[in-house]
Amino acid sequence: MTDRDADKRLAAAAAVDEVCDNMLVGLGTGSTAAHVIALLAERGLTIETVATSRASAALAERLGLKVRPFDAVARVHLAIDGADAIDADLSAVKGAGGAMLREKIVAAAADRMIVIADGSKRVERLHDTKLPIEILPFARAFAVERLSGLFEQLDERTGYLTDNGNIVVDGHGWNDADLPGLAEALAAIPGVVGHGLFLSEIDAAYIADNGVVTRLER
Ligand code: A5P
Repeated sequence: MTDRDADKRLAAAAAVDEVCDNMLVGLGTGSTAAHVIALLAERGLTIETVATSRASAALAERLGLKVRPFDAVARVHLAIDGADAIDADLSAVKGAGGAMLREKIVAAAADRMIVIADGSKRVERLHDTKLPIEILPFARAFAVERLSGLFEQLDERTGYLTDNGNIVVDGHGWNDADLPGLAEALAAIPGVVGHGLFLSEIDAAYIADNGVVTRLER
C-alpha cells in the first residue's frame, strides 16, 4: 500500500467510526470510498447501504453488504464519499469518476455527509481543479455552447457515459468564478443535469496527511 493509499484508508476508518448499527449509509464512489466499503464489510455492523454508482454497489455486494436501490429511499443517515479537491469551507469538487450526480443526490438525502481524502485533495481554492459537468446527450452541442461562456476550455470524455446514460464534459479555466454564481449559472442551462461543485452538502471532512487525520466540521 502506498503512503497515499494508507492515508485514504486512515481517513476512511475515521469516518467509518461514525457508523452505528441500524444506519442506512450512503456509499461514495472512487478509490477512497472503496476503503469505506471494505472497512464496513470488515466491521460486520448491522447496516443497510445505498450506492452512488454501479461500481460501488457491485463492490459492496461482493463484500457482503446489503445494498438497497436508492429509488425508494428519501433519507440516508450518513453518506461518506471522496472528493477531487476540498477547501477550508468544506466546498468541494467531485466527479473525476463521473458519479457526481448520484453522489450529490445521496449527499443531499443524508443527515450528515462526510468527505474523506488524503492530504493531496486539500486546496486553498477549488478553481485549479477540472469541473465535471453531466449533460443529457440530446443537449450536447447546445449545452457546450452555453458552457463556453463559463470556462476557458471544455473537454468531453470520449466514449464515456455515466451510470445515468449521460455524457461528461470537464470544464477548465474557471479562474475567478464566484462559486455560488457558477453553480447557479450551471443549473440554469437546460440539458446540464449535474456538476461536481458541492457547496452546501458537506458537513464534515476527515483528511489524512502522512498518517495524521484532521477533522473539519462545517
Ligand atoms: C467519483 O465520481 C468522484 O466524485 C470521487 O468521489 C472523487 O473523484 C474521488 O475519487 P478518489 O477517491 O478515487 O480520488
